[in-house]
Amino acid sequence: MDPIRYAVFGCGGMANGHASRMKSEENVRLAACCDILPAAARAFAERHQIPAWYTDPQELLDKESLDACSIVTSDAAHAPISLAAFKKGLHVLCEKPLGVSSAETKTMLKAARASGRMHMVNFSYRSYPALERGRELIRDGVIGRIMHVEASYLQSWLATDHWGDWREKPAFLWRMSRKHRGGTLVDIGCHILVFTTLLAGNVRTLTAQTRSFDKGVPRNTWKGYKLDADDSFAMTAQFDTGALGVIHASRWASGHSNALRLRVFGDKGALVIDSEGGKDKLQVCTGDFQRRHLLWNTLHVTTPEVPIYSRFIRSIRSGKAESPTFEDGHRIQVYLDACKESSESGRIVSIKE
Ligand SMILES: NC(=O)c1ccc[n+]([C@@H]2O[C@H](COP(=O)([O-])OP(=O)(O)OC[C@H]3O[C@@H](n4cnc5c(N)ncnc54)[C@H](O)[C@@H]3O)[C@@H](O)[C@H]2O)c1
Repeated sequence: MDPIRYAVFGCGGMANGHASRMKSEENVRLAACCDILPAAARAFAERHQIPAWYTDPQELLDKESLDACSIVTSDAAHAPISLAAFKKGLHVLCEKPLGVSSAETKTMLKAARASGRMHMVNFSYRSYPALERGRELIRDGVIGRIMHVEASYLQSWLATDHWGDWREKPAFLWRMSRKHRGGTLVDIGCHILVFTTLLAGNVRTLTAQTRSFDKGVPRNTWKGYKLDADDSFAMTAQFDTGALGVIHASRWASGHSNALRLRVFGDKGALVIDSEGGKDKLQVCTGDFQRRHLLWNTLHVTTPEVPIYSRFIRSIRSGKAESPTFEDGHRIQVYLDACKESSESGRIVSIKE
């Protein structure tokens, strides 16, 4: 088995997960890393024993002989680096959200398809065993026709210092700034939309409202970052099936660290997936007796999770694409754009693609 020569672009918090995972994959060799901050790139290379580090993505691509890469930069750099990597014939695992607009992700998808290489987006929660089992149950008609959906993604890092003081970390600050394409909607909204649409199907129309609340800092600006991106969003959706849904997320949800919950109600029953209860557990209420007496069963899914990192490497070796691909990344971006449009116009927005 030939080694896969691998590069990591972006050497911040999340990149450590990519490097560690790839190091543990059989015959994957971390060849180079890149960050626009030299100190970050150098420290990352030392930490993960990567032989070469760069501050210019194009220079890395020109000088190194590579097969695949992870793009783990802040969101605005996903598109230019993906396009350059496909041009060099690399397989690309890109962080979420895929890009900063659906016009941009459309271009990325086109380049991915034209390259003939593997392309995946790190919607990490897509690999939850409970989610796949829920999908099977719905496909098998266990809860019947879906009527109603409720989904939330709750964090509390603005309300408490549970994850450290947000004032101290650039990784929090760029997420709060519109200029840096931050905001709850794009940051974690994309994850809960993947979760929801996998089980409830595609969205046909939606409405959304977003809010940015006062953070108690002068002129709403901190360390050069204007803190004007949304902290909370709430949306309503009508799915292709006709079902209705409410989807929301916030960084102000005290009592929750990183909680994804999805409840799906059909005409024959209901199911609930709640990350706080475990990624391999599913609550199900089906059958006349159970429904009449409001009884829920807990299903323990025994199929182990295969993380996206392993599936990406598997897809390169097998030549068989695995989801979520750039197609999924683009579809989610269309929803995010529609939410922004609705939030600005106050109107219901139809999904055209
Ligand atoms: N899948 C998940 O669950 C998950 C979790 C956390 C973060 N993320 C995603 O990972 C990405 C990085 O997030 P993070 O928390 O590590 O942020 P971070 O701020 O800690 O790291 C981003 C790094 O990218 C570097 N960078 C910016 N532009 C660059 C460019 N053009 N070339 C090279 N380096 C560049 C920055 O200097 C920084 O070091 C984001 O897209 C984020 O949405 C995904």
